[in-house]
Amino acid sequence: MPDYQAILQDIHSRNLAEKSDGQVASYIPGLAQVSPDQFGIHLRTASGEDFSMGDSETQFSIQSISKVLLLAMVASTEGDEIWERVGVEASGDPFNSLVQLEYEKGIPRNPFINAGALVICDILLGLYDDPESDFLNFVRQISGIPDVRYDQSVAESEREVAFQNLAMLNLMKGFGNIHHEVDAVIRFYCAACSISMSCHGLTHAFALFMNHGKLDSGEEILTINKAKRINALMQTCGFYDESGEFSFCVGLPGKSGVGGGIAAVNPGRYSVVAWSPRLNAKGNSAAGLRALRRLTDLTGNSIF
Ligand code: DON
Repeated sequence: MPDYQAILQDIHSRNLAEKSDGQVASYIPGLAQVSPDQFGIHLRTASGEDFSMGDSETQFSIQSISKVLLLAMVASTEGDEIWERVGVEASGDPFNSLVQLEYEKGIPRNPFINAGALVICDILLGLYDDPESDFLNFVRQISGIPDVRYDQSVAESEREVAFQNLAMLNLMKGFGNIHHEVDAVIRFYCAACSISMSCHGLTHAFALFMNHGKLDSGEEILTINKAKRINALMQTCGFYDESGEFSFCVGLPGKSGVGGGIAAVNPGRYSVVAWSPRLNAKGNSAAGLRALRRLTDLTGNSIF
């Protein structure tokens, strides 16, 4: 096994030496006050060993990383019919883009752009009486962390400025691909994005995808084929119009969020989460991307 602690130490000290670039997401007011130069990284191996550096226990807003957990919850009970309402192709467009939705008749390209995650939320609204509390319980179950919570002030502040997401929802509803009230879907989506977790906590949740769909206890949440598909979507769509770059530089399935987190997995080996709030122009953590690139460079191992 590589000396992961030494590698994380190297990543951390190189990060301190670099000048900080990028901006904290400010379009959601609740995210704008985060102190920008924090940096944490945590790696959990398949055998349950934990390694960390920096602010790895600090809670941050997981934002779009939640889209993987929402998809996992739907996939845990549903079959291939979900792929009639959301595609599996990279969009090559920003996460909040509307342009493809009209000429593709309200079917989002994939479940990790905002439009796709909104459809996944709509599906969950049809499956559960109280999806907000059931989703939280799902995240608690897969992470093994009983006090995971929504950050209501972040959720509320996103709802107040959710004009583009509401535009997507209305367009998709016009095409018949949203079955519930637009207000109910946006409420659930903003809550899901507002979950606060640390790098350490998120590596436990993402162990599911490292572990081919099983929890540490051996319980199967996703079949091996469903876990494969979610990892494939992270690989091709996890970073929007920077997915090719992430694949090229890092070579792991992963997912970013505008809170500055990036979760990634090396199936059968480890789950890893890097967090640093300054984002590059594509909405992905600038220091987080560098950290994960170094991780696979220094270990000489990726999925390729
Ligand atoms: O819908 C939004 O804009 C946010 N709640 C999530 C966007 C996001 O995290 C994009 N990721 N890099």
